Amino acid sequence: MEAKFDVLVIGAGPAGYVGAIRAAQLGLKTACVEKWVKEDGRMIYGGTCLNVGCIPSKTLLEISHKFIEARDKFEELGIKIEKLRIDIKKMIRHKNKIVYSLINGIDALFRTNGVTVLKGTGKILNEKKVEVYHNGKKSIFKAKNIIIASGSIPSSIKQAPFNGHTIIDSAAALSLQDVPNRLGIIGAGIIGIEVGSVWSRLGSKVTILDALDQVFPAVDESLAKEISKILTKQGLNIKLNVRIMGCEVKNKEVKVKFMDQFGEQSLIFDKLIVCVGRIPYTHKLIDKSSGIELDDKGFIKVDQQCKTSIPGIYAVGDVVRGPMLAHKAAQEGIMVAENIAGNNVQINYETIPWVIYTSPEIAWVGKTEQQLKSAGIKYKVGIFPFSNCGRAKANNELQGMVKIMVDAGNDRILGVHIMGQNASELIAQGVIAMEFSSSAEDLALTCFAHPTLSEAIHEAAFSTLGTTIHKV
Ligand code: FAD
Ligand code: NAI
Repeated sequence: MEAKFDVLVIGAGPAGYVGAIRAAQLGLKTACVEKWVKEDGRMIYGGTCLNVGCIPSKTLLEISHKFIEARDKFEELGIKIEKLRIDIKKMIRHKNKIVYSLINGIDALFRTNGVTVLKGTGKILNEKKVEVYHNGKKSIFKAKNIIIASGSIPSSIKQAPFNGHTIIDSAAALSLQDVPNRLGIIGAGIIGIEVGSVWSRLGSKVTILDALDQVFPAVDESLAKEISKILTKQGLNIKLNVRIMGCEVKNKEVKVKFMDQFGEQSLIFDKLIVCVGRIPYTHKLIDKSSGIELDDKGFIKVDQQCKTSIPGIYAVGDVVRGPMLAHKAAQEGIMVAENIAGNNVQINYETIPWVIYTSPEIAWVGKTEQQLKSAGIKYKVGIFPFSNCGRAKANNELQGMVKIMVDAGNDRILGVHIMGQNASELIAQGVIAMEFSSSAEDLALTCFAHPTLSEAIHEAAFSTLGTTIHKV
């Protein structure tokens, strides 16, 4: 069988669609296999990120944040709103409108870049052949290269199995048509806190249960402690060190039984969201004859350049090791496309940023203080609080700080941690600085625009050198 495509991508999430577009831009004959929503025929372009992840969650976080600002902060600024009210159904329609417009955008990008779309479910056979199943019909395509980008799905726990009504996953939690009075969440991870924040701001009484003894163990400890206090003040009731025993569903309510330091407890909720992590999605994707190997957690085994054990077959995004983040997924898609086209591109996994979209936001790149300590690395810390930053004052957003850690020996930046308004945008400066192996002195001697929140980065860099300009 002749190879019909240079590159065949399975999955059109951020890893797959970005990889397919880049491959086509590099002159490779490219196809992308993706499923569709049975109810309305819509293609699932954008994958988890666009349909039920990053974009819908950030839309709802933004709307609910605006609602809280209008309710709690505007009056102090001289803005009076007599009767503030939120229309949840309209909010969800608005969120869907954004999702659909971006899906149409990817459709247009595929067309303008000449990516062939193969509608259906892909399965990898032997000799780089892919079977595409659509409406009872199977077609087989051969490709010189295959990129697997099938993503991930929510994990579940047997003590709280999803039922689609009272016990739901994060996707359903982003499409609720009413504000649940009592909202339970299992998992105080990124999804639990972000989605919990949305519904808490809109009026739910939110309780989050987690097995661990701290929130956000991957975040720099000083910021994690601070955000934990802020979240509690904002109304999230976070119960840690909890063991979930089981659930009873009765009359549109769910009773969650759990153990904590006080013994057996139970709480009743109108909705329970279970967000206890995500698992790689390879269901019915790989025929044994293909030779592709999985690791013991079900991720497709790949090397640093996302090559599987079979030459010409690559895997990228959530279905492989590393953080489950849309930008990491997309960057892997680009790297693989470039390398198939004959370039030699690598990703610096040390400079992948993380963002948690709480209010204030938390963003970081590089090492945390606890990681540096446990690795025995000698470092210096520079901190600058937003309360000393003119623009933060003008914005009435004083919470948070910038914290920079540098190697005590050579001044090279090892980690940048930001808690504050627009941390998600500001962190790019830390990423670029670290990507270019910048020292803190390089940053301190760079000119930053005034008045901006970025000046806090400038000052934190100065702080690693032992001083700041705006110090009282
Ligand atoms: P996916 O986006 O999961 O896409 C995989 C695609 O492959 C899907 O469209 C699927 O239909 C398709 N597919 C699977 N199997 C087949 C098959 N056999 N045949 C054909 N098609 C197939 N990350 C961030 O960086 N920032 C955020 O703010 C953020 N927020 C999130 C919020 C939530 C609620 C969730 C759940 C996730 C969030 N993420 C966020 C994570 C982000 O969504 C994922 O890291 C990202 O979507 C992974 O991209 P991917 O392309 O690897 O996989
Ligand atoms: P997570 O790994 O962030 O958190 C899961 C939480 O569930 C942990 O705190 C864990 O201790 C807890 N948990 C696990 N099993 C439990 C049990 N049986 N009982 C009680 N608690 C239990 O996973 P989450 O929140 O589901 O998100 C999945 C991934 O999606 C994230 O790791 C991240 O990669 C991505 N994501 C990224 C976002 C961003 O970049 N802002 C936003 C949302 C998701």
